Amino acid sequence: MHVGIIMDGNGRWATRRGLARLIGHKRGAQQVKKIVKSCPDLGVDTLTLYAFSTENWKRAAHEVAGLMKLFRGYLANNLVELHGKNVRVRFLGDPAPLPDDILKLMDNLATLTHDNTGLNLNIAINYGGRDELVRAAKAITREAIAGRLDVDSISEDTISAFLDTNGQKDPDLIIRTAGELRLSNFMTWQSAYSEFAFLEESWPEFSPEIFAQTLQNFRQRTRQFGAVLPKGASIAE
Ligand code: FPP
Repeated sequence: MHVGIIMDGNGRWATRRGLARLIGHKRGAQQVKKIVKSCPDLGVDTLTLYAFSTENWKRAAHEVAGLMKLFRGYLANNLVELHGKNVRVRFLGDPAPLPDDILKLMDNLATLTHDNTGLNLNIAINYGGRDELVRAAKAITREAIAGRLDVDSISEDTISAFLDTNGQKDPDLIIRTAGELRLSNFMTWQSAYSEFAFLEESWPEFSPEIFAQTLQNFRQRTRQFGAVLPKGASIAE
């Protein structure tokens, strides 16, 4: 089962407590560790975390710098543990504008864990669903111009194969914390048939217990993928 999470509400969580927004993000990074750890026991084989969107650059410079520092710390300090737990880490998004040292850490982690067979962990950094589709459209066009791709053969599978999630299944469930009811440019193509869980708790309040409960609620739903099924039947999880 593939779960995508929009980790929202770090800033509000901190502000409500009279703390700096970055303290909320710091707490958010601690939550990431806990939630990643809980996946195998909860039957989650793929977890996609929305860590930084293509729009997040518009935040105050010190907040962006603080978030980059947190990514740096997470990538450097969790390499051994993630690899030891057989986690395969991949990154979604356009890496180009990220600082060189972060790119290096991302590359190290992705390369080291490439052959791991446990949890698939996708971290979306400088990710936007529309940006991902634009990059895919450019790459497909280049292939067609070079004569390596017949335009009439382009199918949904072709587009999926040119996305950052190439080869991975679509998310079954997308969770968003902190009360907002929107997708905010997350997995625009891949979410076509996803179920959604919008939670009131902010990301720093999210816990393995709330995660387990949310998954249990999801598993009780019937997914039809546009088909009409007998009561209680489901095409796939
Ligand atoms: C949204 O909350 C959260 C973010 C933009 C950053 C997410 C980052 C983390 C959870 C920390 C580190 C992540 C990793 C993978 C190590 P917000 O700031 O928009 O909250 P608000 O809506 O309350 O202001």
